[in-house]
Amino acid sequence: MMDLNKIVRVHAPATVANMVCGFDVLGFAVAAPYDEMQARFISTPGVTIVNADHYNLPTNPAQNVAGAALLAMLEECEPGIGIELTIKKNIKPGSGVGSSAASAAGAVVVANILLDHRFDKVDLVRFAMNGEKLASGVKHADNIAPCIYGGVTLIRSIFPLDIIALTPPDLYVTIVHPQIEVRTSDARSILKQQIYLKDAIKQFGNVAGLVAGLLQKDYALIGRSLEDVLVEPVRSILIPGFDAIKSESLAAGALGGGISGSGPSIFMLSESESTALAVEKAMKKVCENLALSHHTYVTNINNTGIKEVDSLSF
Ligand code: HSE
Repeated sequence: MMDLNKIVRVHAPATVANMVCGFDVLGFAVAAPYDEMQARFISTPGVTIVNADHYNLPTNPAQNVAGAALLAMLEECEPGIGIELTIKKNIKPGSGVGSSAASAAGAVVVANILLDHRFDKVDLVRFAMNGEKLASGVKHADNIAPCIYGGVTLIRSIFPLDIIALTPPDLYVTIVHPQIEVRTSDARSILKQQIYLKDAIKQFGNVAGLVAGLLQKDYALIGRSLEDVLVEPVRSILIPGFDAIKSESLAAGALGGGISGSGPSIFMLSESESTALAVEKAMKKVCENLALSHHTYVTNINNTGIKEVDSLSF
């Protein structure tokens, strides 16, 4: 029995898609930053969006990634349901850490709690991918799935959805966000549509090595598998200072890393918090030398995904 007076609140975390070698098939959730969302039933049928931040995102649900995801979900519910969704984005759109996925996944998870958990996680990923389609022109689940499941997720297939949740060893994550915007659609449009077999073989080896390294908690194997011969060489030209940030981070002790999703953020994984902090320092130094305005985060992998909370900061 649905409680019509219920108000549900969640935190939807940022995510790092691709995990370097796993373009569109690997991603992980981080503890911070996260978007804050609240849902409640209202008498107006459909989706009503309320923005509680300064990004001025569209409030027409069909043009809003959270709205598009929720509309897809309501299409599979009885008619007449009205949900008001209040969104406070802390994850800057276009930053490369799954801002659109947090909106889309947060929307369907918070609404599903309101609807007494009638859908399972695979359904929620399916609905939320409509938000990604609106944002980037294609459905992909490598931000959505880790946002909902937590940890690292392997998306073996999206049609039909086949998601494998992996529990990684403790890993610290350093992210630098150069203050430029890269649209996922642009970052996808420059990719080569054909690849050499020798490059595909290298990439298969790295994806398999990374998954095995995560499962066996083998940090050295994780580190040497964080190599991308397909996408990074093309996309890194969009990110000023990419090569220097990467080499200085490795020199500071990072296991490895690369472009976060479609960029411009760059992430590095480390075995300890002290190394992750040293990596942050190295990243900042490169950005300062290049007069590149930036933000950094030091966080860790979030094994919970979107979580229900009692209160929000708005
Ligand atoms: N896998 C997607 C891409 C993630 O790299 O285009 C976008 O965040």
